Amino acid sequence: MILVTGGAGFIGTNFVLDWIASVGEPVLNLDKLTYAGNLENLASLAGDARHRFVQGDIGDTALVGRLLAENEVRAVVNFAAESHVDRSIHGPAAFVETNVVGTFGLLEAVRAYWGALPAERKSAFRFLHVSTDEVYGSLDAQAPAFTEQHRYEPNSPYSASKAASDHLVRAYHHTYGLPVVTTNCSNNYGPFHFPEKLIPLMIVNALAGKPLPVYGDGQQVRDWLYVGDHCSAIRRVLEAGQLGETYNVGGWNEKPNLEIVRTVCALLDEKRPRVDGKSYAEQIAYVTDRPGHDRRYAIDARKIERELGWKPAETFDTGIRKTVEWYLDHADWVARVQSGAYREWLSTNYGERESA
Ligand code: NAD
Ligand code: DAU
Repeated sequence: MILVTGGAGFIGTNFVLDWIASVGEPVLNLDKLTYAGNLENLASLAGDARHRFVQGDIGDTALVGRLLAENEVRAVVNFAAESHVDRSIHGPAAFVETNVVGTFGLLEAVRAYWGALPAERKSAFRFLHVSTDEVYGSLDAQAPAFTEQHRYEPNSPYSASKAASDHLVRAYHHTYGLPVVTTNCSNNYGPFHFPEKLIPLMIVNALAGKPLPVYGDGQQVRDWLYVGDHCSAIRRVLEAGQLGETYNVGGWNEKPNLEIVRTVCALLDEKRPRVDGKSYAEQIAYVTDRPGHDRRYAIDARKIERELGWKPAETFDTGIRKTVEWYLDHADWVARVQSGAYREWLSTNYGERESA
């Protein structure tokens, strides 16, 4: 089986669901269930023996070591992290704790387990670290997109903590020979995205009649990738990535934030028109910019295409349409996230099972 960390978060959820549907190999899902972890996302797997959930911290080396050994894990996919840039500005400590110290604890557990494996299993083992394009810093408007050779220049506590984790992963390969691969991906969007991030926040605020807060002039550029494409890239890198290599993953979809917000509004105008007949774009409100806001990210994804044959399947037009439809169809999910009710899911669904 494989160990997935952070598998109750946005991308982890999509990865676990896609993995079980397409590969079918059992998944051990280790997640601390911070505010961003939502086990309800995985309710469709209740009773499925291919998914086992454990609530715990990646930094708990003893726990991780025990889980690896008991389950004869063949690969680790590390999604677990604090992921929201704005939260990292308000409270960086949790980012250092999980993204740096936690990744270190995880690596220590994996190193001990992997080091004791018999030769054949040792050479087949993989540690895939999921990282971000934000480690590369910000691009000028005309600069070429980030390649894997771009120097690290993280600007927020979040990206600095992710950069530190990438360096630790790299060092464990270089020093101990740990069989690692790292992916650096651009902005994801799609189902189960926590409504603190731009796209889901705009959808839920629009529908609730609230302002749509655009930071600064709204001309910051992000490179958007549908989450299902990120999942297929990770599967491909896990399968065929070269040890010690990093792979940039992106959708060739650079767009300014304001255009994203206007696109979301136009789709909502089409699918769920406002009762007063006006456009949701009327709700756009410019607010003070994010401190240290990176102006532009863009991923050059030619290496993963050339070496591993991976390409995104969705265009932005198809992906954003699916995403808006998902949120319209999952008003209950949104309501339970916003009320905090989703946090009761663990005791509701697992309380009795754990004591059985
Ligand atoms: P998320 O915040 O939605 O989910 C993170 C998950 O990790 C949550 O379920 C949370 O409970 C869990 N977690 C947090 N601390 C933990 C700990 N100490 N131990 C165990 N579990 C813990 O994040 P996401 O958007 O799904 O991102 C997943 C990964 O992908 C992160 O490493 C992030 O840096 C990276 N990434 C995200 C994006 C994006 O656009 N969302 C893009 C590129 C890379
Ligand atoms: O690039 C990959 C990264 O993308 C991931 O590593 C992060 O985990 C993920 O959160 C995301 O970071 P961003 O900061 O780019 O995402 P966010 O959705 O927070 O913001 C996207 C852009 O929209 C950014 O330029 C800030 C802006 N924004 C965001 C919010 C929440 C607004 O203008 N208004 C908002 O209310």
